[in-house]
Amino acid sequence: MFKKCIFWVFVVFSILGAHSLMAEQNIFIFLGAPGAGKGTLSSKLSEKAHLPHISTGDLLRAQTKKEGDLSVRLNEYLSKGELVPDEIILETLMNRVKDDDCKNGFILDGFPRTLTQAKKLDEHFPHKDHIIVVNVLLSPKVILERLKGRRICQNCSKGYHVAFNPPSVKNKCDDCGSKLISRTDDTIETIQKRLEIYKAQYTPIKRFYKEQYQWIDVRNDSLETCFTNMLEKIQAVDPEFVDMS
Ligand code: AP5
Repeated sequence: MFKKCIFWVFVVFSILGAHSLMAEQNIFIFLGAPGAGKGTLSSKLSEKAHLPHISTGDLLRAQTKKEGDLSVRLNEYLSKGELVPDEIILETLMNRVKDDDCKNGFILDGFPRTLTQAKKLDEHFPHKDHIIVVNVLLSPKVILERLKGRRICQNCSKGYHVAFNPPSVKNKCDDCGSKLISRTDDTIETIQKRLEIYKAQYTPIKRFYKEQYQWIDVRNDSLETCFTNMLEKIQAVDPEFVDMS
């Protein structure tokens, strides 16, 4: 009898512990068209708010560098600009957010991309007041210009632009010194395809989040103005959400 009691006390405390851990996680979700600046803004926010920046695109690109069938399949989706199936991306993401650096929260860039993904995220993280959605806006004409000049570090994935956000040394990453490359999906044809897919998926996702979650819109014309404006809006929504000191 005593042993049974101890067992149930252990179970109840484990559940409460896990629950309070989840409740302590604050999550930013960055939505926006390909090239709108989700990665640039969320990585700047990551430094300021001391939360990890999780780009599902970067996770998938890292996976494509490994050996095996999955990498070959993923490479096909990515180079064509098509969405990777929900079950693959969900497993990839859920494995990542279990890491210790996510215990206080994290910043999602590129997820969710479908209503199914949004609903799954909601099942795993049901505390709506612990989520802020940042919707990054930019015109398709400017998007095209930005993606044509984008370069990323082949080692750490840090993003640059040849004219608007160049590295200190030409073609070298400021952080790790590795070579900068163009992404295989930054061709005109693939960009158009990615924009079409985004347009088709966006409305139901926007409706889902705008109705139930804390939502802010930011227009990414000038990076510094946009970033400052975004920080002000986050503070206005919830001054306690993250420590940005
Ligand atoms: P992903 O890597 O997420 O690509 P994306 O959504 O198409 O977005 P991008 O990374 O192209 O743009 P961004 O908004 O981050 O812009 P950035 O900050 O780089 O996904 C790639 C692929 O992976 C997908 O096509 C799909 O196949 C798959 N995938 C990923 N997630 C998935 C999911 N959840 N489900 C299924 N499949 C998934 O900025 C662009 C450029 O502009 C940069 O050069 C930057 O330096 C510059 N820039 C940014 N802001 C400014 C500014 N204010 N002024 C001047 N230049 C600026």
